[in-house]
Amino acid sequence: MTIPLELDARSYDIIIEPGLISHIGEKLSLFLKNPRVFVVSEDTVMGYHGGALKQALAESGIEAKFFVVPAGEATKSIGPLEALCNDILSAGIERTDIIVAFGGGVIGDLAGFAASIILRGVDFVQIPTTLLSQVDSSVGGKTGINTPHGKNLIGSFYQPKAVFIDPDTLDTLPRRELLAGYAEVVKYGVIDDPDFFTWLEKNGSTIVSAEGLPEKQKCRMQAIAHSCKAKARVVAEDEREGGKRALLNLGHTFGHALEAECGYGDTLLHGEAVAIGMIMALETSARMGLADHTDCERLTHHFKSVGMKTSVREIDISTDAETLLAHMHKDKKVEAGTIGFILGGIGTAAVHRGVDLEIVRGVLHDSLNTA
Ligand code: NAD
Ligand code: GLY
Repeated sequence: MTIPLELDARSYDIIIEPGLISHIGEKLSLFLKNPRVFVVSEDTVMGYHGGALKQALAESGIEAKFFVVPAGEATKSIGPLEALCNDILSAGIERTDIIVAFGGGVIGDLAGFAASIILRGVDFVQIPTTLLSQVDSSVGGKTGINTPHGKNLIGSFYQPKAVFIDPDTLDTLPRRELLAGYAEVVKYGVIDDPDFFTWLEKNGSTIVSAEGLPEKQKCRMQAIAHSCKAKARVVAEDEREGGKRALLNLGHTFGHALEAECGYGDTLLHGEAVAIGMIMALETSARMGLADHTDCERLTHHFKSVGMKTSVREIDISTDAETLLAHMHKDKKVEAGTIGFILGGIGTAAVHRGVDLEIVRGVLHDSLNTA
């Protein structure tokens, strides 16, 4: 299946196909001016899928130079970025070459940013290997690294030339990572697509199942394609987040505050933070009279039914409402000192400014303290 992302001269296709990696060379060849690629990946992904990628590239006569960094969020920072750029330059990259990001969101963001600055910009393509990266981060051209001041604070909007999604790569993904990515799938339903949310209520367990259910591949394809179409529509309308794209941050204002407190590591994965953050956003919306309380209950019930964490009390975190609010004030969506919250019910999300912080404080306090 091919989903176009329409962005004038920066338009590209998102290609979703089980088993795609085994013949990726044919697809990549269409983009190559030189029969070679500069592949940025990480050790875990290379361990599982590097062999298949190497074989496919060799079969198509494409020379591949590999730049393999350690897996994990710590790699998305200035030191590893500098080392990566130097390694790629030492290998003799030219402006007509292409960088391939082969991994999850960490690799996509890092390699994409490197591509945007090396030689003032070389082309890159994404081959995302986590559910989160297949439904969100590989599409839309946000690239970047973290800094001690916060996540993703240095970066660029730099669109890939194509996104190649092989859902079969998800078969090796740890269940916890799969569930974290699933939060971003659910997000599209909660933003403006209640029918998709209802479909997920029926099929979510199959999508994240560890069993070889006959329906699994079909449901995963459908969920990934639907998510990519939703994201492509938003990005086509608002590439640089001047308006509608901000809705994609549903759950992120709360979630980023929790992630900051947990140190961006194993204690709380990004998608887990987004799931809990979405529940907090719907609870805030209910308290503000923007949504029915049953929407928050319905979302919580759905996440629970697929085995996801739904409460701050399920994570090893020691914090308070004031500290979390202080993190929210550092969010990228703060304008003139006011925090932009994405609020609403299932299917009716909108950006709200000037939110009464007493209500937010109350939601945070109750989330942390109510048994
Ligand atoms: P990740 O890249 O760290 O991958 C998660 C884990 O899965 C890692 O341990 C990795 O080694 C492992 N892994 C990856 N593919 C695998 C596979 N097929 N089989 C087995 N293990 C595999 O994290 P992520 O969840 O993919 O992405 C999170 C990052 O994405 C964060 O840095 C976040 O800020 C960023 N992000 C960016 C955007 C964007 O628009 N650019 C959007 C959302 C998130
Ligand atoms: N993940 C949010 C965005 O791409 O805008």
